[in-house]
Amino acid sequence: MSNQMPLPLAFSTAPNVARIYDYLLGGKDNFPADRGQAGKIMRLVPQARTYARLNREFLVRAVRFLAGEAGITQFVDIGSGLPTRRNVHEAAQQVAPDARVVYVDNDPMVLVHARALLATNAHTSVADADLRKPSSIVGHRDVLGLIDWSKPVAVLLVAVLHFITDDPRQIIGELRAAMAPGSYLVISHVERRPDVDEAAAVYRDANAPVVPRTAGEIATLLSGLDLVEPGVVRLPLWRPQELEMWPEELDAPLLGAVGRVASTRTGGG
Ligand SMILES: C[S@@+](CC[C@H](N)C(=O)[O-])C[C@H]1O[C@@H](n2cnc3c(N)ncnc32)[C@H](O)[C@@H]1O
Repeated sequence: MSNQMPLPLAFSTAPNVARIYDYLLGGKDNFPADRGQAGKIMRLVPQARTYARLNREFLVRAVRFLAGEAGITQFVDIGSGLPTRRNVHEAAQQVAPDARVVYVDNDPMVLVHARALLATNAHTSVADADLRKPSSIVGHRDVLGLIDWSKPVAVLLVAVLHFITDDPRQIIGELRAAMAPGSYLVISHVERRPDVDEAAAVYRDANAPVVPRTAGEIATLLSGLDLVEPGVVRLPLWRPQELEMWPEELDAPLLGAVGRVASTRTGGG
């Protein structure tokens, strides 16, 4: 959902997860096939648009926390999606003007839009890489152009891990191995629930299937990290800015958390 003129897209009749999400967020970078698929999802989960918004708001709150309180100035946003109203570099640079952000995605259409609308200054870039091959992200030329892995970095895995059909712990482990002490990992993930499982099945026709996971499975994705308060929670409950929430928001089948890579201990003992 960019504020600028939409870019011409190669028309596609195949539904696409980035464009379905764009439609749910109220964006214009989507086609009838995506809107049809989003319609099916909304019939099964009428709050789907609310959930998409809650996810995006969580991402922005987490980035503001990281750029502010946590003092992070480099961000790798993996599965970044189509440009939207408040992108990661805008949220981060509002707090830390020198913050550097690399957007990573494996969808060619997302990459075209991101290169046009997100890689707009010396502090942002876009890398074409696949989360299923973490080493291709860590060692990517465009990532290395802005990110110094020997210093603390925030890696964002927001609303992308549920598109990984295999156990994502191996992937996360490889990313963590590259992250310096004091780095942060941010995740959000669709929770497994009967109503959600039915809607997730709709994604079978899209370019990536959705795999909801239980709260326990999602929590293990962060094991070994120091969880930032309040831990693994439903997204609206992660450091909310407003105390009033609708019951449908509190019931959102989306969990999120921010974890910190522990600092290495120095000294004897
Ligand atoms: C629902 S969007 C999330 C966008 C953004 N992270 C957010 O939460 O607002 C998911 C994005 O993940 C991307 N994606 C899915 N599988 C991926 C993979 N294996 N590697 C990189 N990106 C992937 C999709 O192309 C899409 O742009």
